Amino acid sequence: MTPETLPRDPTLDATLALRKEGYRFIPDRCARLETDAFRTRLMGRDVICMTGPRGVRLLYGAEGMTRQGALPPKVLRLLQDKGSVQQMEGAAHQHRKSLFVRLLVEEDAADMLARAFATTWTRQLVESGDTRVLNSASDALAKVACEWAGFGPDVCEDARLRDTLYQMSARAGSVGPGVVAALFRRRGVERQLARALDDLPEGCLARRVMAFRENGQAIPTEVAIVEILNLLRPIVAVGRYIAFAARVLALEPDWRRTLATADTAQIDYFCEEVRRSSPFFPMTGGITTQPVSHEGLDLPEGQWVLADLWGTLQSEQAFSTPDVFRPDRALSWRTASPSFVPQGGGDVATTHRCPGERVTVALMIAAMQVLCSALRWDLPPQDLGISLNDMPTAPASGVLLTNIRAAASSGP
Ligand code: HEM
Repeated sequence: MTPETLPRDPTLDATLALRKEGYRFIPDRCARLETDAFRTRLMGRDVICMTGPRGVRLLYGAEGMTRQGALPPKVLRLLQDKGSVQQMEGAAHQHRKSLFVRLLVEEDAADMLARAFATTWTRQLVESGDTRVLNSASDALAKVACEWAGFGPDVCEDARLRDTLYQMSARAGSVGPGVVAALFRRRGVERQLARALDDLPEGCLARRVMAFRENGQAIPTEVAIVEILNLLRPIVAVGRYIAFAARVLALEPDWRRTLATADTAQIDYFCEEVRRSSPFFPMTGGITTQPVSHEGLDLPEGQWVLADLWGTLQSEQAFSTPDVFRPDRALSWRTASPSFVPQGGGDVATTHRCPGERVTVALMIAAMQVLCSALRWDLPPQDLGISLNDMPTAPASGVLLTNIRAAASSGP
């Protein structure tokens, strides 16, 4: 099947529809056209949109694909940037990726970050008494991530810098002044981190990134800063998953009691089901660098393709009763699957799959232990709805908690 023979979305240019429909854009059209792949135009460019495992396998495993040119420039600059691991392919990509896999998967970053986050966030929540989970978890994560990287108080205690790390992911899908401000502030953070590099302690994580060698030489400082941001920014973004998890506790209070006495493996499955059921990273894009034949689809060189992650996580073929929150699905990032793809699919070392899943789940587990075991809190009336039109989205209220106190000090 060639692109010409795929079902075509009748809209002349679907950019506005994508903006309006958000996460539902690809899965709804695929359902309507009874296909897993259709053709349309976005921002004046011809594109093939795919939902389900075939598209995931194309973007995470097929030869002859690149991420270069596959994202609008402002999204690229906020989320990745030129010279980053996401923009590389082949042997060069695998070599750079080995740095991330070592730091995030093979070493014990996940446990260290989870412990530091639990301590910092618990203290802050008890001190403040009230919170909006999305904001306070993201802020505590920013502090912990900067400390983990080796930065001193000039960086870690800078509330504006921490907020910019949050805005980089939060603004990636928006248009207008907000995104321009986030881009401007990203430049400021890059300059601030560059100034702080000289004072970093020996052997710290940021220094290890700076010392990473390619073709016999340490990577250029600008690239090192891009990759340090590639470690800091997504750790802060885990605050969004923590807000989605807190929303489940708010809507189904039984989970609060269950998780209070659950072992880590059970909390792990709860968090994995939060990753499956929560709209976060909507889709991922690539462009063919040569003619590609993939599972019955013949693509010419230069073909732009979008693979639907959110819709794939909601597919009835892969997950029975996908609308029901069911941790007993026993999902795990440890088992490769072309359907359970909240942070991409394929092999982490050789494809663009996210290397941050171990860290993400460890931080979510720590957050659930804080909210269900270490603390007590009340839930004021609020809007916990999730709009699928905004990308990225979150519970509308950000999940407000009041009267927060240490568990030992008073009853439930
Ligand atoms: C907050 C939750 C997270 C989500 C939803 C997420 C999502 C993703 C997705 C979908 C990709 C693949 C993009 C593509 O196919 O082009 C990716 C790649 C990546 N993620 Fe994450 N991620 C998260 C957390 C993290 C964390 C905690 C880290 C590091 C501390 C991280 C670092 C990276 C890096 C470096 C890549 C690029 C990998 C490559 O191109 O080979 N992410 N992430």
